[in-house]
Amino acid sequence: MILGIESSCDDTAAAVLRGREILSNVVSSQTDLHAAFGGVVPEIAARAHVEKLDLCVEQALAEAGVTLAEVDVIAVTAGPGLIGGVMAGVMCAKGLALATGTPLIGVNHLAGHALTPRLTDGVEFPYLMLLVSGGHCQFLRVDGPDRFTRLGGTIDDAPGEAFDKVAKLLGLPQPGGPAVEAEARSGDPTAFAFPRPLLDRPGYDLSFSGLKTAVLRARDQSLVDGALPRATRADICASFQAAVAATLAEKSRRALAVCPDATCFAVAGGVAANEAIRAALEPITDRAFLAPPLRLCTDNAAMIAWAGSELFAAGHRDGMDLAPRPRWPL
Ligand code: KG4
Ligand code: ZN
Repeated sequence: MILGIESSCDDTAAAVLRGREILSNVVSSQTDLHAAFGGVVPEIAARAHVEKLDLCVEQALAEAGVTLAEVDVIAVTAGPGLIGGVMAGVMCAKGLALATGTPLIGVNHLAGHALTPRLTDGVEFPYLMLLVSGGHCQFLRVDGPDRFTRLGGTIDDAPGEAFDKVAKLLGLPQPGGPAVEAEARSGDPTAFAFPRPLLDRPGYDLSFSGLKTAVLRARDQSLVDGALPRATRADICASFQAAVAATLAEKSRRALAVCPDATCFAVAGGVAANEAIRAALEPITDRAFLAPPLRLCTDNAAMIAWAGSELFAAGHRDGMDLAPRPRWPL
């Protein structure tokens, strides 16, 4: 029985797993608190985590029908992320571990995302993972719960960040990913010829900041009496999304080619919730393509509990000196 705790960005989350069975998966989003600022404000996020952590843990235990005394391992995100939030989560987990004598494990948030296909589908190592979120974008070869090889990734913005900035440019709400995807449904993906960055260069690196600039230019050139027509906005969203999907698909094809022994190609992270991107990635592989259900793609504590249980099985333990880490490459 594993209790997982996550608070590295703007979601406070707690979950209880029994083996691979998700007994509860509570996520309390702070989106409303940050909406007026157009992005996550670290100080506000940290305070909200402090307020919500206890309640989320209580709710996760109650929904699972489990008492704290029945928990065998406490797993908590120890980084990377906004340091105030990570500290709040680690302190909460340490308090619970100290009070109950339960073993504590600090989990890398990225490992949580990267190990999700093992939670949902029990896939075998090694596999290729494309991790695409608001803060990260990388190809990882996964050989074990603590064995990751980074093949390449973004050299500037993460795709989720690009979705969020494009939403802001077009007057759509945050988080931008779901808003841009919804708008794109009524748009024409071929209306604007946005760049496919770095496709002319070998390797697996990606770049999204130029795409964002191209969207800004398209918006400014499409204004009619100072306003962007609704249909044009949808076309920009669809064309932007198509450019991201095409770039990710081509780089994924190249990364797969150097992992001939990979049992599958899996995606994770918030951007993996995007259906157009999933549709572009699925046909590129002759191996199994795995995209976790949406609630396990975006930030959640079930993935942290799962990664904690894998690390526990591999012999990992942390003590009261577990340190929150704002940066923590895999
Ligand atoms: O993994 P995540 O919940 O948090 C981290 O960044 O770790 O990812 C959040 C990011 C945000 O940038 C959000 O706009 C993006 O994922 N996102 C999406 C979609 N849903 C969430 N991007 C594109 N399409 C979506 N449907
Ligand atoms: Zn994440």
